[in-house]
Order: sequence, then structure tokens, then C-alpha cells
Amino acid sequence: MQFISEKCWLPFIGDIGPMTGTPAQTAAAELSAMGVDAEIQVDEGMQDAFRIEKAGEGYQITGGKSGVLYGAYRLLMKNYLGQDPVCEETPAYKLRMLNHWDNMDGHVERGYAGKSLFFKENKFCYDEKRMHFYGRMLASVGINAISLNNVNVHYPADRLCTEELLPEVKKIADIFRAYGVRLIISVDYALPVTLGLDTADPLDERVQAFWDRQVKLIYSYVPDLCGFLVKADSEFRPGPYMYKRNHAEGANLLARALKPYGGMLIWRCFVYNCRQDWRDHSIDRPKAAYENYAYLDGQFDDNVILQIKNGPYDFQVREPVSPLLYAMPATTKAIEFQLAQEYTGQQIDLYYMAPMWHEVMDQLPHLPPHIVAVTNLGDDQNWTGHDLAQANLYAYGCMAWQGRAFNGEETLKDWIGLSFGPDFGEAKRLEKMMLSSRSTYEKYTANLGLGWMVTPHSHYGPDAEGYEYDFWGTYHRANREAVGIDRTDKGTGYIQQYPEEWAKLYNDPATCPEKMLLFFHRMRYDYVMQDGRTMLQRLYDDHFEGLEESEKLLEDWKAMEGKLPEKSYRHSLDRFEKQVKNARNWCDRMNTYFYRFTLIPDEKCRKIYD
Ligand code: GCU
Repeated sequence: MQFISEKCWLPFIGDIGPMTGTPAQTAAAELSAMGVDAEIQVDEGMQDAFRIEKAGEGYQITGGKSGVLYGAYRLLMKNYLGQDPVCEETPAYKLRMLNHWDNMDGHVERGYAGKSLFFKENKFCYDEKRMHFYGRMLASVGINAISLNNVNVHYPADRLCTEELLPEVKKIADIFRAYGVRLIISVDYALPVTLGLDTADPLDERVQAFWDRQVKLIYSYVPDLCGFLVKADSEFRPGPYMYKRNHAEGANLLARALKPYGGMLIWRCFVYNCRQDWRDHSIDRPKAAYENYAYLDGQFDDNVILQIKNGPYDFQVREPVSPLLYAMPATTKAIEFQLAQEYTGQQIDLYYMAPMWHEVMDQLPHLPPHIVAVTNLGDDQNWTGHDLAQANLYAYGCMAWQGRAFNGEETLKDWIGLSFGPDFGEAKRLEKMMLSSRSTYEKYTANLGLGWMVTPHSHYGPDAEGYEYDFWGTYHRANREAVGIDRTDKGTGYIQQYPEEWAKLYNDPATCPEKMLLFFHRMRYDYVMQDGRTMLQRLYDDHFEGLEESEKLLEDWKAMEGKLPEKSYRHSLDRFEKQVKNARNWCDRMNTYFYRFTLIPDEKCRKIYD
């Protein structure tokens, strides 16, 4: 019976002390601490790939510089799980990144697991031992780059690329280097102005010279920096639009400064009008990313990566894949997910994300070369707030490594085995709970693709009209007859941003996947769904079912009392109890909301408050 949550999925791992050498040296130390006999052979050409072979009584691991370390962890984890470690693996994505949204005052934007792991009171402040362990965790699932600071760059984080803070950045880079993890700095587009120029115009030579100087300085401290991450012209951040320049001009400025050092410029495409008038039906926020970028295909330098959120809105429970991910064939892209459970239960409600990732991959004919996720981490003892939310970080690493070969169920089995021990008697029950958790959460919060009915600002709990009359472009426009936005060719035209086969499928309510019906269509409550229920009845049913299923999760958890370490049991029990409260709140409020409009009662005569 084990669940040592401080060590996440590596509770069995040996003691190696802080490593400061190459990833191959770290690999050797890990193997020897566990008494595993394995030869390590570095073949630089293999890059992140590795091969594990039998060699006499032991093994041989051959791989690139970081590849051998990934191989060492694979060997240790497979041994522990009693699986055959002989394999040959190449990662599906080149950059497998995490973005921290940590502010230097210690607050984590959309953080649900305590404070920052890196910063406190506007200074670097971290537990060095823990940092090394974090490096091991990342390498054990193949993550090879992280940004430390929030994409919304607040003072003094804008100084991370100046002499003032670079010595501190270097120290952190030195820690992660031994684990094959490179740093990314989130930069403020207006830094030239902050530091004394009268402009940040990307076409001004002085601005280019500024960045050239700055980047030279940065690489003198951190020669293997992965690059910069930029959120520009988005949610009040500065950007090239301030100078009437497009985003290719804006991104290339920084890319050119990074290029001589092999650095990448990672540019987020989360750009939309966040001062919309709800009265105005002519703007449709999901269209924004495509409109801002698609026409620029081919104009970005080759070391620019466009970082595109998985959906066109903003990490809602259910969204279609962003149409921008199908577009721009001549541009390098990264797909962005959010492990931080902002709209998905805030690490209180259970939500295992792999089923959602499978849906995204199923909708995409080509996976982009890079992948990124906003972390769910903080300085809580268990790293992720909810012990079980650790599974999302682990699974993300596996998905980033395996791409289409990823299997969310197998991955979960491994995670349970690693975390709770390979002989954990309740593995099947826990697996079932976690695999159904996304669907349960969706049922009580966001049916049929309806999003944004959340409490403003906090984004936890229901508020059907919380964002309805606001300026964020997040409307469902429910009235007594219908709900949803018509995004077809007769409506906002959003659907036309998709390749033809998808556009055709989504355009017709009869062929549109029902789970996204109200994302694409405005439908009457009496619309008859495929199974014969009305749309309204389906909304009622889903809310009731979601509540019942969350009660069942609590029961299941309680059934494991005594079979889990007491501390883990109690900690999560509290979360499951909160989840039931939340689900009840959603169920009652949403059902009442629709009942008050329609005055149509539930066919099954369950209690709907009026
Ligand atoms: C969401 C989130 C913000 C965040 C933004 C982003 O809108 O609520 O806190 O800054 O995404 O991705 O930049």
C-alpha cells in the first residue's frame, strides 16, 4: 500500500543527490542507485530516441544525448511494473513543453496547487532538492522544455532577460540541464520601451538592435536556452498591432535575434477582441485566431513556432479542434493544452484528460511537430492539489512522447501501478473512476458543447449568464425557444474556416457530432436528438446523470477506505465531497435556468426548482 505523493509516479526511485553533469551521467546514477545493470551508449545522431536491448544479464541503452536518460527511466519504470523493457522509441513531438503561469510574486495564474515552485515576493525562491526532483519527473516522461514565468509578464519578470535576473535564470537552467530540460523565457513585447526606447515597433532598426543585444546577453548566461514565449496583442498585452504591424512582422523580429543561437520563438495565437459588445452579433470570437493568422502562412521565419490552443475558444470542457490547426501548411505549429484545470474542475473535481486528447487527435489529420501544456503544478506537497491530478501530468508526457500511439487507458494503468504499487488491489476501480471522470464533469457542467456558463473570474461553479452580457465574446444567447450560436454558413460562417469535409459535417445538425451541437448551432429546445429525446430533456438528463455519477465517485472513493494510505484517502475524500456539492449546484442551477425559460418539466418528474 503506497502513494507517496511527493514523489508522484516515481515513489520507488533511488536516491541520487543533485545531478550537475550530462543527462547520460544522470542516467548512470539513476540506474546504479536502483542496482540495475545497464550499459549506456550515447549516439548523438539519435537525438531524443533510444533503444533498450538485453546485454548478458543486464541491458544496453543506446540513445541520443537526452535519449539515454529517457531510456533509463523507461527501463526503471518497466522493471518496476514487471513489463518487458526491451524497446525502441522515438518521440512523436520534437519540443514537448510545459508552460508555467507563475508570477514572480509567487501567485500562479490559474494555479490550483498552491504557490509558485520558483518565485516568492518578486524573487527567485525555491527548494533546490525539489527542483532536482522536478527535473527527474520531467525527464521520466520525456518533457524537454519548460517556461518558468507567466505568459502575462508582470514586473519584475520582464527583467528575466536582463542582467538583473539572468544570473538567477542561469542557476535554474543549470539545474534542469542535467535532466535534458531546456528553459524558455516568457517575454514582454514592450520590453524595449520599458528599458528606454521610445518604441517597440518591429520594423524599427533600433528595436531589432535592442533585441539582438539582449539575446546575445541572455545566451552568454544560458547558452542552450530553448527560446522565448510571447503572448502579444492578447488580453491587454502589448504587441505589433500597436504599431500597425502584423504578427509575422512582430514574431520575426524576435526570431531573428534568436536565430544565431539556435533559439526558437514561440508565439501564441490566442488573439481575439476582448472588448466585444454583446449586442453585436457580427463578431464571433472562435473565428479570431484563424482571422489573425491564416493569411500569414509562409511569412514566418523558420525558427518561429505558432502556439495554438487546442480549441478556438479557451480550454472549455468541449470544443472542436481549432481550425487554425488545419491551416497554415507552410508554418511550424505547436498545439497547446491546459493541464491546469481552469474550466475543468480546478483540481477539486476529478478530471482525467486523456479521453479529451484522443478526441483532439482523432479530429486532426496531421499532428503538429511540437506540443505544449500549461502546467497543473504548484508548491503543494503533492504538486497538483488533487493527488489524482498527477495523472494528467504523467499522461501528458506520455502523449507528447507517443503521439498517435498514445493510449490513455494503458497509460492510466501504468500511472496507477507506478503511483500506488503494481499490486494495488483497487487499481481497476480507480481506473474506472478516472476514465469516466471527463464525461461526468461534462454532463453536469457543459452539455452539448455549451461553454462559459461558469462563475466569472474564478471559473469554478455555475453561472448561466455570468459571461452573457460581458465583453469577452462568450455568449450562448439563450431565450425561451433556443440556445447556442449559429456558426454555420448561414450564421457567423465560423464553420467555413474548416477544411471542406469537416465544414460539411459540422454545418448540418443532423451530422454534427451531438456533443458539439450547441457549439456549432442554435437549436430549439424541442429539437429531437438522435435517440428521440428532445434537446431540453437531454440537458436535464445530463445534469441529473452528472450529479449521480459524481455521487458514485464519492461512494467508490469511500469504498477504498483502508485500502489506501490514510493521508491520501482523507485528502482526496475532501475533494470528492466538494465535487458532489459542486455537481449538485450545477445540476440544480442549470436545470432551473432552462426550466424557467421553457416551463417544460422533466419527463421523469425529478425535482427541478423553480
Ligand atoms: C485564459 C485564462 C487567463 C490566461 C489566458 C491565456 O483566458 O483565463 O488567465 O491568461 O487564458 O491563455 O493567456
